[in-house]
Amino acid sequence: MKVALTPPSRLFTSDNAGGAHPDVIAAMVRANEGHALAYGQDNYTREAKQLFSKLFDADVRTEFVFGGTGANVLALACMLRPAEAVVCSSWAHIASDETGAPERILGAKLIDLPSSDGKLRPEDLQSVAYMLGNLHHAQPAVVSITQATELGTLYSAVEVRELCDTAHEMGMLVHMDGARLANASAALGATPEALRSFTIDAGVDVLSFGGTKAGIIFGEAVVFLNPNLGERVEFIRKQVTQLHSKMRFISAQYIELLRDGLFFRLGTQANAMSMALYERTKHHQSLGLVTPPAVNSLYPRILEPARRALQDWSFFWDWDTAADQVRWMTAWDTTLADVDAFAKGIESVL
Ligand SMILES: Cc1ncc(COP(=O)(O)O)c(C=O)c1O
Repeated sequence: MKVALTPPSRLFTSDNAGGAHPDVIAAMVRANEGHALAYGQDNYTREAKQLFSKLFDADVRTEFVFGGTGANVLALACMLRPAEAVVCSSWAHIASDETGAPERILGAKLIDLPSSDGKLRPEDLQSVAYMLGNLHHAQPAVVSITQATELGTLYSAVEVRELCDTAHEMGMLVHMDGARLANASAALGATPEALRSFTIDAGVDVLSFGGTKAGIIFGEAVVFLNPNLGERVEFIRKQVTQLHSKMRFISAQYIELLRDGLFFRLGTQANAMSMALYERTKHHQSLGLVTPPAVNSLYPRILEPARRALQDWSFFWDWDTAADQVRWMTAWDTTLADVDAFAKGIESVL
């Protein structure tokens, strides 16, 4: 079986497959002019940090790192003391996709709890309460949740608040891995107010703020919504090898992403394209696409030989081969023409 059509010009593999938005590239080129102080002492970094405080309407502390794994490790390193542990879902990127970086670098235990949809709930936190105060257990000290989750699901602002309230009542802090924060924000309102409603207003303490999947080249931000937790961040960042000397290049990208709402617009585009793909394919009952995507990914089932034929034509990743499940993911630059071309290919083999 073969697909004999023109493939879409963009892939449906991952939101990291796209390039960077042209305005971000232009901002990088402008930042390339002349010299600037290194290690974050430059004006770009000052301005980018101010934009984060404006976005959250609070005096937050923001520090930049190279990537998402580094952001998570740095955030957690600032939140943990010796003999403390992180509670997360077993789907969490920190538990399943960071090659053990958190365990190795933090020297801390991850307590990864089963979750069918990638989300944690207050009762999950209660399930580790028996460890608190028991000297034979690493002490659960941080709850790490992902928004949007690794399974393409979303916490509502109320759900995050309930989780934060429970965590805080139990003496724990809350970290949010926001590698797909642009998609989550877009799904929940696409405004700074919407973003605040499920982060700072809900009680999240520290946020890994994702820019790479949202349309920049590289560089993530760790935002201390509770600025006291960032007291030692500059030392810890250097120790965990996440200090970029030419920091202005990360900062210039964030200025572009935040100054005029590009962050929300690009997240909205990615989400809209996964919705469009859903609309064009949901009538194929064998795909099992029973609910619309919450953000920018779909997890259909495709049997062989159709799966291989489609992947040979326009590659996408398997998700759960035992269940014949794959992942289709849209990015900030996916267009309707891409979706139409991809949907036609799917149609041709089903
Ligand atoms: C949920 C989540 N967190 C963090 C990351 C960041 O990882 P990286 O270190 O590849 O930038 C990713 C990337 O895929 C992710 O999906």
